[in-house]
Amino acid sequence: MDIKALVSRMTLEEKAGLCSGADFWHTKAVERLGIPATMVSDGPHGLRKQDVEGDHLGINDSIKAVCFPAASATAASFDRSLLTRMGEAIGDSCQHEKLSVVLGPAVNIKRSPLCGRNFEYFSEDPYLTGQLAAAFIHGVQSRNVGTSIKHFAANSQEHRRMSSSSDVDERTLREIYLPAFETAVKQEQPWTVMCSYNRLNGVYASENPWLLTEVLRDEWGFEGYVVSDWGAVSDRVAGVAAGLDLEMPASGGVNDRKIVEAVRSGRLDEALVDRAAERILSIVFRYAENAKPDTPWDKEAQHLLAAEIAADCMVLLKNEDKLLPLGREDKVAFIGEFAEKPRFQGGGSSHINCFRTTSALEAAEALNIVYAQGYSVAGDNASEAQIAEAVAAARAAKAAVVFAGLPDVYESEGYDRTHMRLPDCQNRLIEAVAEANPNTVVVLHNGSPVEMPWIGKVKAVLEAYLGGQAVGLATVRVLFGEVSPSGCLPETFPLKLSDNPSYLFYGGEGDTAEYREGVFVGYRYYDRKEANVLFPFGHGLSYTDFTFSGLRLSADSITDQESLTATVTVTNTGERAGKAVVQLYVGDDESTVFRPVRELKGFEKVFLQPGEAKEVSFTLDKRAFAYWNTQIHDWHVESGVFTVEIGHSSRDIALCAKVHVSSTVELPRHYTPDSIFGDILADARATEALKPLLDTMRALFAPAPEDGTTEAAKEAISDEMTLAMLKYMPLRGILSFGGDENAPQLLEQILKDLNTL
Ligand code: BGC
Repeated sequence: MDIKALVSRMTLEEKAGLCSGADFWHTKAVERLGIPATMVSDGPHGLRKQDVEGDHLGINDSIKAVCFPAASATAASFDRSLLTRMGEAIGDSCQHEKLSVVLGPAVNIKRSPLCGRNFEYFSEDPYLTGQLAAAFIHGVQSRNVGTSIKHFAANSQEHRRMSSSSDVDERTLREIYLPAFETAVKQEQPWTVMCSYNRLNGVYASENPWLLTEVLRDEWGFEGYVVSDWGAVSDRVAGVAAGLDLEMPASGGVNDRKIVEAVRSGRLDEALVDRAAERILSIVFRYAENAKPDTPWDKEAQHLLAAEIAADCMVLLKNEDKLLPLGREDKVAFIGEFAEKPRFQGGGSSHINCFRTTSALEAAEALNIVYAQGYSVAGDNASEAQIAEAVAAARAAKAAVVFAGLPDVYESEGYDRTHMRLPDCQNRLIEAVAEANPNTVVVLHNGSPVEMPWIGKVKAVLEAYLGGQAVGLATVRVLFGEVSPSGCLPETFPLKLSDNPSYLFYGGEGDTAEYREGVFVGYRYYDRKEANVLFPFGHGLSYTDFTFSGLRLSADSITDQESLTATVTVTNTGERAGKAVVQLYVGDDESTVFRPVRELKGFEKVFLQPGEAKEVSFTLDKRAFAYWNTQIHDWHVESGVFTVEIGHSSRDIALCAKVHVSSTVELPRHYTPDSIFGDILADARATEALKPLLDTMRALFAPAPEDGTTEAAKEAISDEMTLAMLKYMPLRGILSFGGDENAPQLLEQILKDLNTL
């Protein structure tokens, strides 16, 4: 299809019309030119295809579909191949349902535990987020169906999400909030990118040329179309100029007319409208030419896949006395309404109409289970009778499993949480059950961290996150040892909300949300601060044991143009088969900028039989060592020694090795009379040129004895001290501290020499 030729045959009105939806979910058809309408659908973890009445908040019913685990859960898998398989399955169902694009993945950073939409986001870490999002996109798009990576960018709160400005400094944006998008775009070319509702540093994402064109297209090479989040358009004409191609849903023609008027009055170049139309059409036809509506959609098989994925996402947070796995013959009490009606997905646009759900109670039908409701989700309470029944059930059983978590209303798209607590009734229930039975396990269903005031009283905690419609099946498989848990926390669980680095500023004042903690998000903050946490980033236990050994680097020293290979052996030293997650972190030993102690730069998941060992290799390139330098507006490695660590979590580092990395980039410099001696002396190239001025200053600060100073006084002011004092002295000090009449010329000459080196 010659898209340019096609666009050249369109009228201005047709082109402008194409730049907004026909309705909630369709792009516009232009029948006279054979342009078909295409349908898009939420996303991200299954289809929410609304056939009849559209809305974007999940109010009206959608077709029966399969709900896979939400990103909060899948992130815990630390498993790229798992995300790819899930993407393939969703891609197949899109083909079956004639959907051109599934609206996801959602890759906003979990800045605070409070964000209502955290359940839909992956992690507090940009590397983990980017890797898993890319793997998911790879899977979906392998089926010739598009994705829409969202919400671009810095949309880490729901509070005032359609008007608030996320004010984020350049380095923080580049290091924390943009890399997941960058990785996905560079590696996988998502067919579309969805811009967010919020403003970024004062400018709506939907009309931000820096974001949508300079960064996304010019720097990263994005080729698809940019679609607005539903209703994210404020000034449509500014949006077209900035690089927003498709407005969704539709503006009833109002904005299309504005585009036409702007072109006619000379305020908008028609070439920009052509550009948007071309981008939209290239995706429309990419789908249309590859549509395979006869692709089967085997929901039963996908239900089982959803269970398999969910099991590999569960994080065993605590397992005292190896209480888990439970014996299949044991009498076990399942307590809590979530055992019967699990919470497995979040509210809002990602809400799926499941064709089936399997609860833990159902999945454990053949086992020796007694059930007590414990609390009622709808009433958010637990009566004395419910608690008494739960205690009695716990007493009569070998072990008690309390199914706890956040009710739907606690976390959802559209608003944020106000605290990090579980419902009080659930906390009370857990305490009562733990008192009645020392073998108490808590299973958690939540999209984001919760406080655990009872943590010292229960023996085991299994974090299931929001595990999709087959979560019950997965939970029972893990509880009873059919699967050894292998998930790791993709975020830190702080002890309490106020420990979180964004706590003082989260949500912002009015429409200004300043991201003042900068790059110190999640473990980047807790580790630098040496703060106690409930569970650290990367933490997750197994039913077997893994040891890491023999870490070796391919070189002791490299330049920032070379890559480094780190190799480590992982051995299953326990008695069961299981999957190990090997995490690799990098830290700069000495840096002139504030940097986290360590940052995740690699991870691999490996399956090992008991006694089996495997080698795992990681390749580290410049980005693994670099920070974003705001002087050159680019990634930069500061020459020096870096530590490469292999760990079980950010707080459980098993091995480390050192490498020297030298920069091949000289930072631009310009010295002025206000530059200080210390900075110039740190610049190896400049020492020689500085010498005449330095000698003069030394003489002024530590005069020779023949000038009247005694030997004793000279010793008292050693050369070392003089230099230390001069370190923070500006060069112009020579004028203030006794330089002779030639001092101004000397200063001028030296600056000239320094700046022409
Ligand atoms: C959400 C998007 C979603 C869109 C369409 C918006 O409210 O922010 O994530 O894809 O609606 O339902």
